[in-house]
Amino acid sequence: MPEMKKKTVHIKDPEKVEKIICGLIRGGASKLQIITDFDMTLTKFSYNGRRCPTCHNIIDNCKLITEECREKLHKLKEKYYAIEIDPHLTIAEKYPYMVEWYNKSHTLLVSQRLQKDKLAEAVRESDVMLKDGYEVFFEKLHESNIPVFIFSAGIGDILEEVIQQAGVYHSNVKVVSNFMDFDENGIMIGFKGDLIHVYNKNDSALKNTCYFNQLKNNSNIILLGDSLGDLSMADGVSNVEHILKIGFLNDKVEESLEKYMKSYDIVLVRDETLDVANALLKKIL
Ligand code: TMP
Ligand code: MG
Repeated sequence: MPEMKKKTVHIKDPEKVEKIICGLIRGGASKLQIITDFDMTLTKFSYNGRRCPTCHNIIDNCKLITEECREKLHKLKEKYYAIEIDPHLTIAEKYPYMVEWYNKSHTLLVSQRLQKDKLAEAVRESDVMLKDGYEVFFEKLHESNIPVFIFSAGIGDILEEVIQQAGVYHSNVKVVSNFMDFDENGIMIGFKGDLIHVYNKNDSALKNTCYFNQLKNNSNIILLGDSLGDLSMADGVSNVEHILKIGFLNDKVEESLEKYMKSYDIVLVRDETLDVANALLKKIL
């Protein structure tokens, strides 16, 4: 596979990866499922040297928010994003800070009385971009009816709007994320259900065993993520035969590469494409 020879590709144990890929190819379409993160995994981290927004940032930057609130959200991001990606802290150490970040940021969003019917425009006017090759990725998975579980600590309503506007929200795609709650006038009053943040995806994964139990025969998994918290996204799957974990490493590359290579089977450094995933799908489907 020439895509595996790209400069962005880093693999600690090529033999192990080859074995997993052979297992995925043998299993074919009928055994496959995709479990993927959204922000900075399916979307670009940067474009032309400029950072691209997460679901949250789409709101942070839009005109529905007051300047005062925007400034507060940016300050929070500066402080807590540094903690999110700090290579010297453990997940356990980061965890309480992530809860703090989400609580503060979501409280600010609620204070803005956002209108549900204005969100589509905010997404349209944003700089969000899906990674290169997303059309092929979603088309191929739809064509073969492969279940795609998008598991995001972002904002579900925004995420759905992004993939809807890109024309790839097909029937084989399921989104689990933080969904906004609105009052009868369509004003945002909070978030539904339990909070999903960067480092509690294991808990949320277990809450979705119902979904995974319906997919008992889909015992081969391609997992895509960009955070070490994304590694637990498949924790709700009980019958894993082969799992290939692909991790996008976008930031603090030098400091984090070793840790990522220990945890992810394939690490893609500053790769703004879905080339590797698409090459695998071409082999498997
Ligand atoms: P993900 O699970 O789809 O990657 O989404 C979570 C990302 O959103 C994670 O990288 C943190 C980020 N985030 C913001 O950008 N702004 C915020 O206010 C919050 C709470 C999270
Ligand atoms: Mg992410």
